[in-house]
Amino acid sequence: MLKSHSCGELRLEHVGQTVTLAGWVNRRRDMGGVIFVDLRDRDGKAQVVIDAGRSADAFAVAEQVRSEYVLQVVGQVAARPEGLQNPNLPTGDVEVLATAVTILNPAKTPPFLIDRDDNVDETLRLKYRYLDLRRERLQRNIVLRYRAVKFIRDFLDQHDFIEVETPILFKSTPEGARDYLVPSRVHPGKFYALPQSPQQLKQLLMVAGYERYFQIARCFRDEDLRADRQPEFTQLDMEMSFVERDDILDLIEALMVGMVQHVSLVPLTTDKFPRLSYREAMERFGTDRPDLRYGLELVDISDIAGKSAFRVFAENVAAGNPVKGICVPGCGHYSRKEIGELEEIAKSAGAKGLATMALDPDSGEMKGFITKFFTVEQLVALTARLGAEPGDLLLFASDEARIVYAVLGALRDEMGYRLELKNKKELSFCWVIDFPLFEETLEDGHYAPSHHMFTAPKREHIPLLDTNPGAVLSEQYDLVCNGFEVAGGSIRIHERPLQRKIMELIGFSWQEAEDQFGHMLEAFEYGAPPHGGIAPGIDRIVALMAGEPNIREVMAFPKTAQATDLMSDTPSFVAQKQLDELQLALKAPAKKNG
Ligand code: AMO
Repeated sequence: MLKSHSCGELRLEHVGQTVTLAGWVNRRRDMGGVIFVDLRDRDGKAQVVIDAGRSADAFAVAEQVRSEYVLQVVGQVAARPEGLQNPNLPTGDVEVLATAVTILNPAKTPPFLIDRDDNVDETLRLKYRYLDLRRERLQRNIVLRYRAVKFIRDFLDQHDFIEVETPILFKSTPEGARDYLVPSRVHPGKFYALPQSPQQLKQLLMVAGYERYFQIARCFRDEDLRADRQPEFTQLDMEMSFVERDDILDLIEALMVGMVQHVSLVPLTTDKFPRLSYREAMERFGTDRPDLRYGLELVDISDIAGKSAFRVFAENVAAGNPVKGICVPGCGHYSRKEIGELEEIAKSAGAKGLATMALDPDSGEMKGFITKFFTVEQLVALTARLGAEPGDLLLFASDEARIVYAVLGALRDEMGYRLELKNKKELSFCWVIDFPLFEETLEDGHYAPSHHMFTAPKREHIPLLDTNPGAVLSEQYDLVCNGFEVAGGSIRIHERPLQRKIMELIGFSWQEAEDQFGHMLEAFEYGAPPHGGIAPGIDRIVALMAGEPNIREVMAFPKTAQATDLMSDTPSFVAQKQLDELQLALKAPAKKNG
């Protein structure tokens, strides 16, 4: 080894020892005759003192070094003089008095400062990711990620799971996104699909009798990217045989609680995760990803508003639609401009407009255009129902239920930000259960699976598949944390006829189902056990545990929002020869590389 100790491990107990360190120059200060170098490695930083009086050779070398040079230093550990200790540094009680300094490699001036957590433009950070990864923030996140995955592996090993790898080159497993396709050279015109998840394969492992499987699995989805979405990401993919829903929920809850307690920088609100039905989540929070760190819940006022003289409300209620509101404390003073901003949010969520009322902070009198359509009794009833106090702002939505949820859900989210109710120092988990099996009916009269097509309907709802598929509830469950969906899973269908029926409702012809999923349907005829599973998203959970707003911050080499890698300039054009081998022709003419 080129070093005897790490920079970060030196303490008072090492005083008097001669050590060899190797690392990067974090900072260099020339005090005239004495040069101080903060030497950094993965473990931390150590102060090296290079005194011309002690070693003229070492001093001469140190005079040449700059930030990010790679050095090897030999010296003696000494206690720092009284008053010069640095309590903010774990190695702050000691320093190394250098006797020899070797430059292992010089460095160009980096495009941004490594030793400071300045706000560097992300494009630059991604282009020089290997330098960005040297910085404390990313080092902390990447180590945290490693510890999280290690905890998961140890935990699942103790619970009798085994990790099995599944292929990356496989057949399409739809999870609602577009596939990344890989052309086959050997079979021209045919394609592999990169897995959107190992869903089919883990179910086939259950048919194969493995009973408890997991995998730290790479997944690939060609979809619009956001702060919590990357084209390739990592799941803790799991599947178990002979289980019921609560077995999986209890196990994952224990795993999450243990992991957060062991590795997270942000603590849990509670170690018993509340369970909300999909319906309750929508009715109270307007979303199936409720952020339970704060209130601002949706309140149904249909009975009161339906009797008012405000036509929009009355007509909607008469048509069977809800009127709901949220009470925002202390925002009754909002200006027209501020209300206008909220109205824009409401409109982009599907509302035609935004009805508001405000309670005067002194008199408590109700203000706002629509108040005149309500009787005094109705206003009193409204205030009481919403728990409104003087100075509060009331926001209302009335439309089809799904629009009301979308609008008030978006406004609740916005007000959560504005009022700083989203405490960054807390992780608030909950389960959402009892989802509908299908989402909105598709235009062609078919149904889209709410989770994926392998999810089982609730047993007692199976007869409804023939009469009212839209009303069928499923065995799907999602784990939500701070408003993000961090895991999704379900009890699966394990019988061929039921799986065929669901495929039909989704719109697969008999032939399409056989072509794409014949192997699954056939496997179900060879003794498939009842089974279920789940897949927590590692990137999202680690980001939450690291207190990071974006999953890119916990991935070593993430892609941009345009799905590119700026460092290597990926994706890139390929040589004509490669296209010829694959028997592919491009519609747009290929540019030459370089
Ligand atoms: P689902 O599609 O819900 O379920 O995905 C499971 C979890 O994976 C994470 N996730 C993502 N993370 C980052 N970038 C993305 N593009 C992305 N897409 C999903 C989320 C999500 O909750 N096969 C099923 C699981 C099962 O049924 O067992 C599946 O993949 O945290």
